[in-house]
Amino acid sequence: MGKKQIAVLTSGGDAPGMNAAVRSVVRTALTSGMGVFGVHRGYNGLLNCDVEEMNLRSVSDIIHNGGTILYTARSPEFNSPEGVQKAAENCRKLGIEGLIVIGGDGSFRGARDLTQAGIPCIGVPGTIDNDIACSEYTIGYDTAMNTAMEMVDRLRDTTESHDRCSVVEVMGRRCGDIALNTGIAVGAMAILVPEQPYDFERDIYQRMQYTQRIGKRHFIIVVAEGAGCHVEELAKEIEKHTGIETRATILGHVQRGGSPSLRDRVVATQMGYHAVKLLLDGESNRVVAMRNGLIVDFDITEALEMLRRFDTELYRIAMKVSI
Ligand code: F6P
Repeated sequence: MGKKQIAVLTSGGDAPGMNAAVRSVVRTALTSGMGVFGVHRGYNGLLNCDVEEMNLRSVSDIIHNGGTILYTARSPEFNSPEGVQKAAENCRKLGIEGLIVIGGDGSFRGARDLTQAGIPCIGVPGTIDNDIACSEYTIGYDTAMNTAMEMVDRLRDTTESHDRCSVVEVMGRRCGDIALNTGIAVGAMAILVPEQPYDFERDIYQRMQYTQRIGKRHFIIVVAEGAGCHVEELAKEIEKHTGIETRATILGHVQRGGSPSLRDRVVATQMGYHAVKLLLDGESNRVVAMRNGLIVDFDITEALEMLRRFDTELYRIAMKVSI
């Protein structure tokens, strides 16, 4: 019998640390006696048989780089029963007996479907949003938060010089974790997230007027992308209601780039290693996760049904001290 051949791909939005995870997967697999293909551009690479045979040196000098050397994509063609069957057939043709998918929830649904089509898959959470319910941490989250913090620190300089208010939108389509943590780290006066109800009058205008009366002269408001408000319009409303000159900034995709933080590199290495070990042990349809600081794994189907927990206590503390 020949050696076991596996493959690795990155899918969905890229995240700093994905390269560290690919490196860990490739090196753990090769040093455990398996062969590894790198699949290009997510599931599209399986549909087009666009793969490269990896060796120990294919992943040299990438641990410190953002982005993903395998490229990434969202694949509408793969998201159909025919697409999944085609990808599974191509895996069989290429001799791929196991697949590691680094990405978010959408990518894990693909991994579940491909497992059902006969290709054992393991998911690794890679997304800056930290929105994977089964895991308290996702690869890229730490770097993205630190990037956002650094950017808002710069905004603070000009906000302070002009006695203004800055409304800053950070990423997080369905999840307020980047906004909450960045908001605390930059001393934001208000933090708007999808998980917490808010009221402009009570939480912003009145709060600004009160803190202004007790000596505050400039204001930072951090808004998660998915909080349901348009930051340009909110800035205009703030000026109208408070008379305080206000500017809006959308940080956008800058948060997805850059050299991964130490934490992202280390967690990516641990998770990539764990994913390969699961395949070696004959496991499939599992997703690697972090729970209480430990690397564990869950059934993908069950993980996709879990509900995310928002840290309401941390939010409460943030509001208490942002006065
Ligand atoms: O990576 C997650 C995320 O950054 C979301 O917060 C954001 O809504 C989305 O990706 C945007 O991704 P894209 O522009 O690549 O579709």
